[in-house]
Amino acid sequence: MEKELTRNGEAIIRRSDEEIHEEAQANMWKFVFGFTEMAVIKCAIELGIADFLEKNQHQHVTLNQLSTSLACCSSSLYRILRFLINRGIFKETSTKYGEIGYVQTPLSRLLVKEGRNSMAAFLLFESSPVMLAPWHNLSACISSKDNNTPPFDAAHKRDIWKYAEVDSEHNNLLNSAMACDARITVSAIVNDYPKIFDGVKTIVDVGGGNGTTLRSLVEAFPWINGINFDLPHVVSVAPHANGMEQLLDHWWRLSLGLMELILISLMLSLLLLMLMVLYMLVVTCLTMFPKLMLLSSCGFCMIGEMKNAYKS
Ligand SMILES: C[S@@+](CC[C@H](N)C(=O)[O-])C[C@H]1O[C@@H](n2cnc3c(N)ncnc32)[C@H](O)[C@@H]1O
Repeated sequence: MEKELTRNGEAIIRRSDEEIHEEAQANMWKFVFGFTEMAVIKCAIELGIADFLEKNQHQHVTLNQLSTSLACCSSSLYRILRFLINRGIFKETSTKYGEIGYVQTPLSRLLVKEGRNSMAAFLLFESSPVMLAPWHNLSACISSKDNNTPPFDAAHKRDIWKYAEVDSEHNNLLNSAMACDARITVSAIVNDYPKIFDGVKTIVDVGGGNGTTLRSLVEAFPWINGINFDLPHVVSVAPHANGMEQLLDHWWRLSLGLMELILISLMLSLLLLMLMVLYMLVVTCLTMFPKLMLLSSCGFCMIGEMKNAYKS
């Protein structure tokens, strides 16, 4: 590195080609291992590190306690913690006797699974093999002439909503991720702009996922009647809440209506056909066998007379 002075005395730092090359290499290593941050955070969520530290926040949690409670190999867990601490997720503390322990940080609190502002579900969703597959197809999609097909559809042969219909595990991941996003955004709207809901009687959330948005709104403004509208595989697993109705996707409802209509018209046609056949039978009998009809009516008369005679 060389320092040069300009005419007015300002310092200019000139870097050698070798230094520029070394910096490029260092950056490239960061890109090569860029995926590790997502992978290690996913690992921490799955192990439940943040959940354990949150539950035991008033205690000094040592590596030994953590690895025993989470049933982990302590040396591997230590390496994971060191990686995360370096990125501001979890913090190392020590007691006055020099014993090392671990505590939460604002970042690691976002990884508590049931936390109000948790982003754990979003990370688990985005880091799932299903969501990563389209990224592996990106260059194929861009070089393809038909680049109207989104990478997700190209990787999974159907769009993201239809895919969720056939993969219930992914459906749960997707709905939970959307819900965690909704919790964050809706609470900001409820806290900062409550006035916009004055006088609102009904809200229909079209594509409202598992209804988290509406649930938060109906809880905050109980006079609102919420109607959550989404696809059948989303609505069927959505939790119920007071003041809220869950509606299936429109075309599905329409097709149910059509089916009912077709069934009713089929039954009516069948009834009409049976009535016509009966009428034709009666007419044929009357015209072809008048004597038979006469005989049978005489028979009925005779039976009637015999009954009367017996009674008297
Ligand atoms: C990006 S998510 C948004 C979820 C929710 N609004 C939220 O913010 O958390 C889009 C939603 O639209 C739903 N969706 C997609 N196609 C739909 C359709 N044809 N009819 C109804 N809902 C649909 C999906 O199932 C999904 O829940």
